[in-house]
Amino acid sequence: MSEALLDIQVNRKDFGQTRVLQNVKVRLHPGEVVSLLGPSGCGKSTLLRIIAGLEQDYSGELQQSTDQVAFVFQEPRLMPWLSVARNVGFHDDTAFDAAWVAQLLDEVGLGGFAQALPKQLSGGMAQRVAIARGLYSRPRVLLLDEPFSAVDAFTRMKLQDLLLDLAKRHDIALLMVTHDIDEALYLSDRVLIMGNRPSHVRLELAVELAHPRDRRDPLLATLKAESLTELHQAQVF
Ligand SMILES: Nc1ncnc2c1ncn2[C@@H]1O[C@H](COP(=O)(O)OP(=O)(O)OP(=O)(O)O)[C@@H](O)[C@H]1O
Ligand SMILES: [Mg+2]
Repeated sequence: MSEALLDIQVNRKDFGQTRVLQNVKVRLHPGEVVSLLGPSGCGKSTLLRIIAGLEQDYSGELQQSTDQVAFVFQEPRLMPWLSVARNVGFHDDTAFDAAWVAQLLDEVGLGGFAQALPKQLSGGMAQRVAIARGLYSRPRVLLLDEPFSAVDAFTRMKLQDLLLDLAKRHDIALLMVTHDIDEALYLSDRVLIMGNRPSHVRLELAVELAHPRDRRDPLLATLKAESLTELHQAQVF
């Protein structure tokens, strides 16, 4: 397989007396889509923050063959006083690339909203802006922390397809945290299942189905049953 874009080994991550992560290993190859599934509080966001370099107090090793990593958060985190276009390119005010912003807004289906303010957007539209902002810096890896958890089920399915489409078009690997087993299996090449603290990757499921996938594919149902069994054994529910 090609060289990994990122390879993280967290031996230990503690917050005070609490050990959150122990012996967690994650690799991500170019173009791959990998999901992290696990109970609330098991350290998924912490792991993404470590990978993004936002959290440096841990024991372990992070190897990256690219520094082109971007982050999409659970909430869109848009600046309410900035236009949609400025929100997409705001971190680069000196070299605001209007043509690139316009292309990205087109690609996320918001071509007509460049000058709108965030308050004029629905939740799903705001998250589209957040995705466009994530793509603005031309990352090779996009980290997403429950990016669709605040939108309704149908919008969510549309956004999932949009995300896959964008990742393929721009050759970006995705590492995504989600609580939604169906979402993880539908999107991912591999699903990593974590247990309760101190957590590690208990099971790695390969989803060997080409894209575009059929959400009703029986293999997805089989893998969902396997995931549920593992999560139950991990006493997640
Ligand atoms: N800055 C912090 N200081 C102290 N404890 C923290 C901090 N950030 C996270 N924690 C603790 O670490 C644990 C893991 O938190 P984290 O946010 O990574 O979990 P998570 O798996 O993303 O949960 P959720 O699914 O609810 O988002 C939790 O017990 C949390 O309270
Ligand atoms: Mg979290």
